[in-house]
Amino acid sequence: MKVMVVGGGGREHAIIKKIKENKNVEEIFALPGNGGIAADATCVDIGAKDIDKIVEFAVSNHIDFAVVAPDDPLVLGAVDALNAKGIKTFGPDSKAAIIEGSKAFSKDLMKKYNIPTAQYETFCEMDKALEYVQNCPIPVVVKADGLALGKGVIIAETREQAVDAVKTIMGDKVFGDSGNKVVIEEFLTGPEVSVLSFTDGKTIVPMISSMDHKRALDGDKGLNTGGMGTIAPNPYYTDEVAAICMETIFKPTVEAMNKEGRSFSGCLYFGLMITEKGPKVIEYNCRFGDPETQVVLPLLESDLLDIMLKIYDKELDQIEVKFSDKSAACVVMASDGYPGKYETGFEISMPLDKNIYVAGAKLKDGRLVTGGGRVLGVTETAPNLKDALDKAYETVKSVDFANAYYRKDIGKRALMAERN
Ligand code: AMP
Ligand code: GLY
Repeated sequence: MKVMVVGGGGREHAIIKKIKENKNVEEIFALPGNGGIAADATCVDIGAKDIDKIVEFAVSNHIDFAVVAPDDPLVLGAVDALNAKGIKTFGPDSKAAIIEGSKAFSKDLMKKYNIPTAQYETFCEMDKALEYVQNCPIPVVVKADGLALGKGVIIAETREQAVDAVKTIMGDKVFGDSGNKVVIEEFLTGPEVSVLSFTDGKTIVPMISSMDHKRALDGDKGLNTGGMGTIAPNPYYTDEVAAICMETIFKPTVEAMNKEGRSFSGCLYFGLMITEKGPKVIEYNCRFGDPETQVVLPLLESDLLDIMLKIYDKELDQIEVKFSDKSAACVVMASDGYPGKYETGFEISMPLDKNIYVAGAKLKDGRLVTGGGRVLGVTETAPNLKDALDKAYETVKSVDFANAYYRKDIGKRALMAERN
């Protein structure tokens, strides 16, 4: 089989490495991939948002199966366009991808179908939004409606900050048209859990749970990033919590999307907060999480491509999805300064026999050099979380590039939770 994966980060590298394990795979193309992915796939210089070119490539290269990994092409309709040309594809069509593409849509969906989430109001006019934040409880969370590279969420600790947040999103348009509408919602507290799931619109199978570390600095300080590290499984996601999530969140979401005529097929990601009043949805993503995928897929014992093929055929109930009972840890090595300004172009030296997913790197004269904010995701697995973390940090020591920065406390909170 010829497989094509759209995207070019650490998540895509993890998906490609896993798909490579399938014996029927002859060749994997990555569009655009990156300098590190080039070791595992043929990289093609077509951007993940260039849907016309993606479809043209798939057709002319007789691609048997395509995986669209990032949010942008999914929301823009890459799956619709590939399916229209008869290319079998993993991922939701644009009608279903709206579950991530519009926060107003997803909040209204949850309200209509009684899926637990934070209380909220939606505003299209800045004056009305400003009036609302003058009287609402503080802290409050202000969210741009559309996609904003995971940065469209502002947690306002004071009323002044809330006013500023509305003005920056709706007035200054720092997230572009994503800020034409805002969702202003109740601030929730509790540990966060990421649950990726496989679904074909009929059956939903949650994958092993994970925990992201979104802030740039140790102790969950600093700016929000795409994610500085992950661990799996997440100790806060107990069997009891999992059972509640299945009945009150996962199944109802799949059914709600069906009732809306927006059946979801692919990876549906639940960003959850375990509040005192039970688990609530913080966000939905219409795709695999990054860097969650870098800890979840190494623990998947079943064949990923076979699962994806079954999902395409709407026969997910016909295949076993099995996870290892080990733990995994991923430490993201970034360019110092990320998510702000940073320099790139530094040569990377790293062991080739380790599970290192390359996110932001390119080939320059045959050498791998840094090329992005998040550069590598170093993943290790072990029978328990402590050992997985120790191994991951040991491997980090054997990686070298100038201006490397990584958090030293990935998994610390999870380890503490395990002890309680
Ligand atoms: P999102 O991009 O929606 O995942 O939001 C980014 C982060 O903001 C989440 O991972 C949470 O840590 C935080 N967040 C989002 N919504 C809320 C909320 N209603 N209450 C508290 N924290 C939130
Ligand atoms: N790690 C969070 C996300 O992929 O959105």
